[in-house]
Amino acid sequence: MRLNRFLSECGVTSRRKADNLIKAGRVTVNGEVVRALGSVVDEATDAVALDGKPVSKERKRYVILNKPPFYLTSLKSLEDGKKTITSFLGDIEQRVYPVGRLDYDSEGLLLLTNDGELANRIHHPRYKVIKTYFAEVSGDVPENLEAVLRDGADIEKRFVKPDSVNVLGASGRRARVSISFHEGQKHLVKKYFEAFGLRVARLKRIACGNVRLGKLKKGAWRDLSPAELGGLRRMTRLAPREQ
Ligand code: URA
Repeated sequence: MRLNRFLSECGVTSRRKADNLIKAGRVTVNGEVVRALGSVVDEATDAVALDGKPVSKERKRYVILNKPPFYLTSLKSLEDGKKTITSFLGDIEQRVYPVGRLDYDSEGLLLLTNDGELANRIHHPRYKVIKTYFAEVSGDVPENLEAVLRDGADIEKRFVKPDSVNVLGASGRRARVSISFHEGQKHLVKKYFEAFGLRVARLKRIACGNVRLGKLKKGAWRDLSPAELGGLRRMTRLAPREQ
């Protein structure tokens, strides 16, 4: 296939403008600058780059999975005998990577994508993409639990305050809480409750920004809708376009 057509089919630019990029020496094939118009590439074997960045035809994919508990958020099994989320992703053509992690025993909303830029931004506290969790906790539940949890706590020498807290129910030594954070520290929710002497018995992520888990069945996935993707791109200050 001609190089200019390959570049345009990858969504880089139009064929005519691709010729300008080629003439300007901005395109390499297998590491060599190619300036000849009409050059041909083999899309299966040649590595094409624009300004040093690889160009490929792989379609960007954005998926939400309802991770069941007792599955590793990993594409390879790192710990013997533990199942991974890979078993749920078999029919997704592209190689998609988890955006952040859910603990082995946690469940719920997990975004997966091959769009590294969006993934990094969703995870970065700067963009304040709020993740909401449903937690069942046990311990000495104070009467004013909601107010106590709203105050914030030091987690590993850093003060953390949830973006929102709602106690959905409490009886005896147990409570059900919905809690949101825009930070993504490892084990953040469990550590946060621990700071108040409470143990998380069940943890389920139910939302990430404008994307909600809804009624997606355990172990099932679906593509994000254009509105969901648009919302995430807006929040993370990326241009409103899907490649
Ligand atoms: N916080 C946790 O403690 N665990 C998770 O899986 C996600 C957030």
